[in-house]
Amino acid sequence: MSTMLLELGEGRRPEDRGPELARGRRRGGGGRGASRTGRAPAGAGVAGSSAAAHTPVLAGELLGLLDPQAGQTAIDCTFGDGGHARLVAERLGSSGTLVAIDRDPLAEERFQALATQASCSMRFIRAGYAEALELLAREGLRADIAYFDLGMSSMQVDTRERGFSYSYDAPLDMRMDPAQELSARELVAEWDERRLAHALRDYGEERHAGAIARAIVRRRAQAPIETTLELVETINSAIPAPARFAGGHPAKRSFQALRIAVNDELGQLERALPLAWALLRDGGVLAAISFHSLEDRRVKHFLGERARGCICPPDLPVCACGRVPQATLLTRRSTVPSAAEVAENPRAGSARLRAARKLPAAQEPSA
Ligand SMILES: C[S@@+](CC[C@H](N)C(=O)[O-])C[C@H]1O[C@@H](n2cnc3c(N)ncnc32)[C@H](O)[C@@H]1O
Repeated sequence: MSTMLLELGEGRRPEDRGPELARGRRRGGGGRGASRTGRAPAGAGVAGSSAAAHTPVLAGELLGLLDPQAGQTAIDCTFGDGGHARLVAERLGSSGTLVAIDRDPLAEERFQALATQASCSMRFIRAGYAEALELLAREGLRADIAYFDLGMSSMQVDTRERGFSYSYDAPLDMRMDPAQELSARELVAEWDERRLAHALRDYGEERHAGAIARAIVRRRAQAPIETTLELVETINSAIPAPARFAGGHPAKRSFQALRIAVNDELGQLERALPLAWALLRDGGVLAAISFHSLEDRRVKHFLGERARGCICPPDLPVCACGRVPQATLLTRRSTVPSAAEVAENPRAGSARLRAARKLPAAQEPSA
């Protein structure tokens, strides 16, 4: 019988918990399930349930690049509904190991369901992936595969009361880890105008960031902004009418920005990429699916730097820097979903997949 090991108490912020994180370890039975899930942009989805679950984004492409083999160890850094993890686990077989990470307790519930069906060894770490990867590094784990499917899951956006979506009226929240202190409500209530404007501009690439921040500060001086609808109204009031009706929902960029800020998504990603890379064995593969340019840029830069060799000026007759590539890029350009996938699952529309293979130290890339 499998046992769930909870190493630390709940209700503390991940940064307070440090690396001693709630985690579980399971060995599954056999058989297969049919989870069909993936990620979704804010505002998409079916009301009040995860019934809109769908095939994981770029699943075939991701699997092709990772090429999981029986007996390998894989780290799914963003377990979500377990759609990708299920496919990977099937390939790892009974001698393989899958370590799943997610900061959302709902994902942990999904993990428990998958763990009873998969034949490989399975372990769940509930934490930010940066903290979880630090923990794994301290334990000395070595992996053949590590992958990220960034952003929020369908399950999160479709659960109205979690406040991720501008389409449903709900308490302003947006926390992936409900035990975290900072929620969108606190952020909107407490951040000063300048900081709000920066967040909206930097994380949402929102052209009207200054006006929206000003409108938030003005409105909260009269009454606290506590719901998604109140925030949408405030955003609408700050955007000139012609811009409001062009380029999607007027609150889309602001909601993205607040979600990224609340969950420190870019900070987590920047910390996690080198940690995941360091855990890989020679020949191991790191892959990431991004959904906006802020994430994709970071992944592209990280993998590109690993694949870069000599950086001496071109007029130097011999290399003086001694730098050799640590990686071969498996995706020179990002891989995007097929038209058929986007037609079937519009939520996949902005997905970009990049991957690289770790080279043995001091080996030149073959291609
Ligand atoms: C797009 S979903 C993953 C979907 C999954 N690949 C599937 O097939 O079901 C992203 C998941 O990553 C989790 N997540 C996002 N940022 C995280 C972080 N910094 N640390 C841990 N989990 C994170 C979210 O809670 C969410 O469940």
